[in-house]
Amino acid sequence: MSSTSDKKADRTAPPPVKVEGLSVAYGNSPPILEDVNFTIEAGEIFGILGGSGSGKSSVLRNLIGLVKPRKGRIFIFGEDLWADNGRHLNESRHKFGMMYQAGALFGSMTLLENVAMPMMEFTGMSRESVITAARVKLSLVGLGGYEYHLPAHISGGMQKRAAIARAMALEPKLIFLDEPSAGLDPITSADLDRLIVTLARNLGIAFGVVTHELGSIMSIIDRAIVLEKSAKGIVAEGAPAELAKRTDQPFVAAFFNRQTMDEAKKASPKQ
Ligand SMILES: Nc1ncnc2c1ncn2[C@@H]1O[C@H](COP(=O)(O)OP(=O)(O)O)[C@@H](O)[C@H]1O
Ligand SMILES: [Mg+2]
Repeated sequence: MSSTSDKKADRTAPPPVKVEGLSVAYGNSPPILEDVNFTIEAGEIFGILGGSGSGKSSVLRNLIGLVKPRKGRIFIFGEDLWADNGRHLNESRHKFGMMYQAGALFGSMTLLENVAMPMMEFTGMSRESVITAARVKLSLVGLGGYEYHLPAHISGGMQKRAAIARAMALEPKLIFLDEPSAGLDPITSADLDRLIVTLARNLGIAFGVVTHELGSIMSIIDRAIVLEKSAKGIVAEGAPAELAKRTDQPFVAAFFNRQTMDEAKKASPKQ
C-alpha cells in the first residue's frame, strides 16, 4: 500500500509538463499554433495527436527546449524551461528522456555503451555503477543478454527498446516519444506499446507521445490532445475512447474512427 500513498503524495508535486499559452511561429510567417494549454500528469501516457502538419512535432520541439516558444511558457516539473533566458535549460533537459523517430543510437557503440554514455557524461557515478545501472536499464526493456551487440545487429523493434533504455539513463520521470511505432510491424509495435505501459505503471514514468498509430492510441494512451491546423491549436482533449464518440466534432470523430470527413459528417447529428 505504500506505493499507493507515494503516488498520492506525487499529486501535490508539480506535474511533469505544464504548457501555458504556447504560440509557435516560424520565421516571419503567421503563427501555426496559438495559445495552446495542457498538462501532462505524473505517470500518465499522454498523446499529442492530429493530422499531418497540425503542429505535433512543433509542440514536441518546444517541450524539449529545442525551440524557444514565440509566446507562452513551458514548465518541466514546475521549472520554467526558459527562465533566466534559458540558463537552466540543460539542467531541465536532464529531467526528461527523449526518443527521436530515427532511434538515435550511436551506431559504433554497443547497446551497453549507448545507455551508459549519458550517465558517464552527466552523473558523478563510478564506471562500475554506470555499467551495473546500464545493464539494469537494458533488462528493464527486455534486452538483457544484448549488452555487447551493436545497433545494426539487432531488429528495428529492439533498437527502439534500446533507445528507450537510453532515454531512461538519467532515471527521468518523463519521456517523450516521437512516432515510436514508425517503421515497425504490428506485432513489434504492440510489443513496444506493452513496454511503454509497463514502464509507466511500474516506474511511474509519464510519457508524452506523438503518434498517429490508431491501434496504439486506443490501447495505451490515457489522455490526449488533438491538434488541428486550421484551428491553430487544440480542438479536443480527453481519453481516446471518449474522443472517438465526439460526433459533434466531425474532425475529431473522423480521426479516431479512421473515417473520411464526409463519413464523419454524415454520422454527425449537427452537420
Ligand atoms: N522548421 C520549420 N520552418 C518552417 N515551417 C515549419 C518548420 N517546421 C514545421 N513547419 C510548419 O509548421 C506546420 C506544422 O508542422 P509540424 O509541427 O511538423 O506538424 P506535424 O508534426 O503535426 O506534422 C507545417 O505547416 C509545417 O510546414
Ligand atoms: Mg511531425
